[in-house]
Amino acid sequence: MAHLVTLIPGDGIGPEVSEATRRVLDATGIELEWVVQEAGERAVAREGAPLPSRVLESIRRTRVALKGPITTPVGAGFRSVNVALRHELDLFAAVRPSRSLPGVPTRYPGVDLVVIRENTEDLYAGIEFERGAPETEELRRKLHELGHEIREDAGVTVKPISVTGARRIVRFAFEFARAQGRTSITLGHKANIMLFSDGLFLRIFLEEAEGKVDVQSQEMQIDHLSMRLTRSPEDFDLLLLPNLYGDILSDLCAGLVGGLGLAAGANLGWEYAVFEPVHGSAPDIAGAGRANPVGMILSGAMLLRHLGEAAAARSIEQAVDRVLSDGAIRTPDLGGTASTIEVAEAVAGALQHQDGEE
Ligand code: NAI
Ligand code: MG
Repeated sequence: MAHLVTLIPGDGIGPEVSEATRRVLDATGIELEWVVQEAGERAVAREGAPLPSRVLESIRRTRVALKGPITTPVGAGFRSVNVALRHELDLFAAVRPSRSLPGVPTRYPGVDLVVIRENTEDLYAGIEFERGAPETEELRRKLHELGHEIREDAGVTVKPISVTGARRIVRFAFEFARAQGRTSITLGHKANIMLFSDGLFLRIFLEEAEGKVDVQSQEMQIDHLSMRLTRSPEDFDLLLLPNLYGDILSDLCAGLVGGLGLAAGANLGWEYAVFEPVHGSAPDIAGAGRANPVGMILSGAMLLRHLGEAAAARSIEQAVDRVLSDGAIRTPDLGGTASTIEVAEAVAGALQHQDGEE
């Protein structure tokens, strides 16, 4: 039976890299039935909203989506589609693998790690008090009553981390490690300073880790972890991070292995999964046919693995490796002259080549 997948082509280079990815996924021979749903700028033009309810309904029905980048218009009064999707579908885990790819220049040839980032709490919960606002003054008075002083000219962002939020991401991380054959989890935190937020996260991690023999666990201060990542990233397998540290370190890890055009990602909840490249809509090169499709193609491979099609996922990853290490067909961001579609066709061709070998 065909797998139903919602496809959101997105804005800017989104439709170009989506088309490229669809070609590669279809070339695996896995039966996929694409349900195309426009969101973003075209949806605004046609329907007056960037994320019409039909898009969410489609993802709730198909349960999985492949998504191109969507432009967040500045000051147009719309909430980011990406934040809205995460919120509406309760996609509480962001998963971003970083792997050194053959032939791509990097100082770190042996990296193969995954960042799992908590997506809903922490300093990104959106609880903000503007300097000078009446609510901020009230908060200041309340804190004064409780024995804490904040300067009159301070703005405040609140950092909530709950047992519920921490436990579900920790359990997710252990299940993910087991399902993907990863053997060690490192939690990054600053529990010695933030006792009741990071400290709580750490305590839940230690509780859940107890008695788990198939996956090793260690915890590390986030500053020390950052230093270790720049010295020997190959020491790490799976990083589990609260929201803010996860945002920062997942970009750092993408940088370790060669940049934005190559980085894949997923936003996952217990019920739904949305796969998308890490990069944005790249308006500077949109329409030119020279965007690197590899980040989205590798996101597509993650989607296939999620659907239980691990062999097809692996063969896409191997085909990407083969094309990159061959080096003749690469987009301009990697120093080549090939177009988006030429890269997709080369990857699809390398898939068929593998079939022939088996
Ligand atoms: P960007 O990732 O779109 O572009 C940054 C730079 O990297 C540009 O020079 C671009 O040409 C280059 N680049 C990005 N992807 C590439 C690819 N596949 N191949 C070759 N070069 C590539 O980031 P920027 O410019 O900050 O954001 C543009 C728009 O995208 C904004 O509206 C932003 O809100 C949105 N965005 C959406 C995301 C999503 O939908 N998940 C994620 C990040 C940004
Ligand atoms: Mg970020």
